[in-house]
Amino acid sequence: MKNIVVLISGSGTNLQRIIDTIAMGEIQNAKVSLVVADRECYGLERAKNHNIDNVLIPRGKNFSNELGQIIPENTDLIVLAGFLSILKPEFCEKWKGKIVNIHPALLPKFGGKGMWGHHVHNAVVEAKEKESGATVHLVTSGIDEGEIILQKSFQITENDTPETVAEKVHLIEYEIFPKAINKVLGN
Ligand code: GAR
Repeated sequence: MKNIVVLISGSGTNLQRIIDTIAMGEIQNAKVSLVVADRECYGLERAKNHNIDNVLIPRGKNFSNELGQIIPENTDLIVLAGFLSILKPEFCEKWKGKIVNIHPALLPKFGGKGMWGHHVHNAVVEAKEKESGATVHLVTSGIDEGEIILQKSFQITENDTPETVAEKVHLIEYEIFPKAINKVLGN
């Protein structure tokens, strides 16, 4: 049984999707062993609802060190599911190849510092992009720069707003995240 630690900062719908796809057998031979949040957020309630160990480590410069101390050594995969802190290079190095992040755009476009959540969708619509999508990638010390594991796009129409783009991106995330996790776990 592979152990997955999920890091969150927000509502945790992607965390919920991971929990559900494990329950449905779409992600096999794995369990969410721990959920870590860097702030109070609804995602923590989701962990509690499923009796998953959960901890809040307040965001700040000590976050990566404290996280490093509580992550079990037998962790197979660390999943960033709407997680907004930047992990320290030493942490990324220690867990190299075992950290994945989901990003709400088609990397390498619309990535990097400050590009998260609605900021991404605002920028995409502002730039009159013809398409957007979601990307799952390995995490390195370069923000949003690690190797791409899976990516899927959709066409943006004239009527789309940042809000509708966000909804469409979320649907794509729910589709590709479990697949990408299976891929990294070697399932
Ligand atoms: C997701 O769209 C995810 O791609 C994004 O935050 C959202 C979290 O939603 N992550 C980033 O912007 C990271 N740069 P959720 O809490 O409902 O899963």
